[in-house]
Amino acid sequence: MHQARSRAQSQTKFLLDETELPRRWYNIAPDLPTAPQPVLHPGTGEPVGPDDLAPLFPMELIGQEVSAEPEITIPDDVLGMYSLWRPTPLYRAHRLEQAIGTGSRIFYKYEGVSPAGSHKPNTAVAQAFYNKQEGRTRLATETGAGQWGSALSFACRLIGLECKVYMVRVSYEQKPARRSMIRSWGAEIVASPSEDTESGRAILAEHPDSPGSLGIAISEAVEDAAGREDTAYSLGSVLNHVLLHQTVIGQEALAQMELAGAFPDVVIGCVGGGSNFAGLAFPFLREKIAGRDIDVLACEPAACPTLTRGVFAYDFGDTSKLTPLVAMHTLGHDFVPAPIHAGGLRYHGVAPLISQLVRDDLIRAEAYLQNDVFASALEFAGSEGILPAPEAAHAIHGALQVARTADEEGRERTILFNLSGHGHFDLAAYDNYLAGKLTDIALDEQEMTRALQAIEGLPTPA
Ligand SMILES: Cc1ncc(COP(=O)(O)O)c(C=O)c1O
Repeated sequence: MHQARSRAQSQTKFLLDETELPRRWYNIAPDLPTAPQPVLHPGTGEPVGPDDLAPLFPMELIGQEVSAEPEITIPDDVLGMYSLWRPTPLYRAHRLEQAIGTGSRIFYKYEGVSPAGSHKPNTAVAQAFYNKQEGRTRLATETGAGQWGSALSFACRLIGLECKVYMVRVSYEQKPARRSMIRSWGAEIVASPSEDTESGRAILAEHPDSPGSLGIAISEAVEDAAGREDTAYSLGSVLNHVLLHQTVIGQEALAQMELAGAFPDVVIGCVGGGSNFAGLAFPFLREKIAGRDIDVLACEPAACPTLTRGVFAYDFGDTSKLTPLVAMHTLGHDFVPAPIHAGGLRYHGVAPLISQLVRDDLIRAEAYLQNDVFASALEFAGSEGILPAPEAAHAIHGALQVARTADEEGRERTILFNLSGHGHFDLAAYDNYLAGKLTDIALDEQEMTRALQAIEGLPTPA
């Protein structure tokens, strides 16, 4: 017993067998202390029903979106695809702890081992599977940094669907290798805003140099899917069913922390739309809601501070107002975040489930500047070896801050964060950082006030 404990103390990797892959996704909705606000039809202001969503999504995913079941069985075919990279490893960051001289224990769950290099395939394969099952032959989607576009392109290739990816222009230019990866798995890709859709053409007419944003790219993909019978829309974050699929991360992490003989005091993730954060945090929030004391921290960029400075309001999920209205923290649907390198965190809104949990004080959020984030990324790479995606580096920075504060207070904490992806396609960002060329951008108050005018007149949440 004692020997096993001391072995766990010195161990670095905590691995699960393939047979220990979670068989069910965890649905947090029935456990929420406050029920989420209904999704509204923008025309009628009434809650949307399955028929409103059917042109965009397969029925199974619409069912998962509103499900009150605490757990949903993962289809065998999806488990089979998961087994290509899952269970993913959990690491104890011994070397990072030594490097910063902390008394705290730091663990991280590493999602960068998937074929696309991030957590995104966890939902991509599930979404592609249900679409194929219900007869769709093509999917349209947006991508920020390119991680989601890669994941969906990969999933469509495995399953046998066509795929069209609208990639935010600034990332399209910053990350040519992501484009190649997306094409290699067989998807078609264009820079967004593009000439391929009405939404794209309208934005280009007004702003020919638009760097694009996730909100704009979503408009293009939704328009594409709505206009074609054979095509469904696929979203890589924000929606309840996407967060649901990601909960395999936290369920595995719970089992792996047990192998390590530890339980986290603090659970941390970066938040763009919220899917990797939810994936790790929701199974732990289940414990928190049941009475366990866990600090749950969401990390976002100061250039796009949705949770820390946005307002909780009904807003569109996209720039051209094609999506239903969702109640969430938002900076306004026409807000175009500055072109920071964490492209996947440049979204004006956030998952409604996460917004609700922030309002209920079950999650807290912090916003960071990109030079600080890259400094932490290199601190991590220098001790643990892995070069993180700039998005994931926000979680690393959060973890380091928590460890340092604990040391100052003379406390020892157990910290767990999600390393949502590697940064092998983000090397230009590292070059810029090393050359001292990154600018620190915090959203300015005036621009925020301007952008929030876009939601005036929309319904207000109860
Ligand atoms: C590696 C990585 N982490 C995090 C994110 C942010 O998305 P989400 O908040 O849905 O996890 C992205 C999005 O592209 C990503 O590529």
